[in-house]
Amino acid sequence: MVDRANLRPGQKVFIQAGSGGVGTIAIQLARHLGAKVATTTSAANAELVGRLGAQVAIDYRKDDFEKVIADYDVVLNSQDTATLEKSLRVLRKGGIAVSISGPPDPASAHEKAFNVVVGLLMRLLSRSIRAKAKAAGIRYGFLFMQSSGTQTAELAKLIEAGAIRPVINRVFPFERLNEAMEYIETGRAKGKVVVSVA
Ligand SMILES: NC(=O)c1ccc[n+]([C@@H]2O[C@H](COP(=O)([O-])OP(=O)(O)OC[C@H]3O[C@@H](n4cnc5c(N)ncnc54)[C@H](OP(=O)(O)O)[C@@H]3O)[C@@H](O)[C@H]2O)c1
Repeated sequence: MVDRANLRPGQKVFIQAGSGGVGTIAIQLARHLGAKVATTTSAANAELVGRLGAQVAIDYRKDDFEKVIADYDVVLNSQDTATLEKSLRVLRKGGIAVSISGPPDPASAHEKAFNVVVGLLMRLLSRSIRAKAKAAGIRYGFLFMQSSGTQTAELAKLIEAGAIRPVINRVFPFERLNEAMEYIETGRAKGKVVVSVA
């Protein structure tokens, strides 16, 4: 939202899966940046995403987000390709879709200095979505998370100031790492799943 979309106060951002590990932080960060936030969640987690700051909560099991929101500036996609394609239609012309769940694009291959073959593969994998975005006048970008001490320090300051509150769903000791992974794979985590190495 910061690096790729340059999210500004007053802009509208659609963050999918607001109750997940990424969504619970992303909603709060977007609100801190002064944006208006819409998100998808099941009814059971609607109260949680509202508390985190989402102004629009769409029950993805019941409602079609495409019929609820329109003319958004930014989409943060964390779902499948069908959802990503649908997300392009809720963006205004000139808006940007940033995906963290695929497909990776040539720019991200270049950024990560992947070799030519991997770069070509990414070009092919993302060809369809890039073409659809271009036809609609929308920018598309994939984001590989990368650790940044500067950004982590910024986030830590926001957490210490109470502007962002991490939502911790479960904590597993290191010996139960496999269980933690299995739990994440259920796709039902409500916030972050922590593995304690202490
Ligand atoms: N590119 C990168 O570097 C990067 C970094 C981090 C994560 N990711 C990817 O981003 C995705 C999200 O990660 P995460 O850690 O946030 O996942 P997560 O915590 O496992 O997400 C679980 C949440 O997703 C919600 N959910 C499940 N299906 C949904 C749907 N169809 N629509 C809306 N919400 C839905 C669930 O809500 P309910 O229980 O209410 O259904 C649950 O709260 C994953 O695919 C992950 O691999 C990529």
